[in-house]
Amino acid sequence: MPLPDPVSTPAPGSVANALRARKALFWDRIARKYAADPIADMAGYETTLQRVRSLLSGDQDVLEIGCGTGSTALRLAPFAGSMLATDVSAEMIAIARERWERQPTPQLRFAVADADAPVFAQGAYDAVLAFNMLHLVQDLDAALALAAQTLRPGAC
Ligand SMILES: C[S@@+](CC[C@H](N)C(=O)[O-])C[C@H]1O[C@@H](n2cnc3c(N)ncnc32)[C@H](O)[C@@H]1O
Repeated sequence: MPLPDPVSTPAPGSVANALRARKALFWDRIARKYAADPIADMAGYETTLQRVRSLLSGDQDVLEIGCGTGSTALRLAPFAGSMLATDVSAEMIAIARERWERQPTPQLRFAVADADAPVFAQGAYDAVLAFNMLHLVQDLDAALALAAQTLRPGAC
């Protein structure tokens, strides 16, 4: 049986979906180029991955917001129990799913979701990750509060 959708997706034609789509426009347009661009600071990227990996464990459910093309999620998910990686851009998530097809990772799922909107399950995750995206949210305090609501009591 398919797993239930972990994100409450705004209905097509709804105001919430129109807002999401407008925000995603730029990222949808540049997604294929973004995916093809090499990482500028590979050593720094690997250091970040190592640091985050050391905080993860196989009993954790992890949420990533603004995951882009999913390359970081594909590297980190094997160190978590489960990982839901999300992005406001449907095109970014399409690329992430293509990458997943080439590198199937059973713990990892992708979904389109706006980190500015209350679309995630509350109290469902042990960690929330965000890389290179918090400067893009509409209201940082509000987005961080929404992210905090997704965490289980005692999670950090
Ligand atoms: C600079 S890219 C970083 C992608 C990835 N985290 C990385 O480090 O390569 C920023 C990403 O944030 C996403 N994004 C921008 N605003 C967002 C929002 N409100 N909710 C979720 N994702 C958002 C964009 O679609 C884009 O994929």
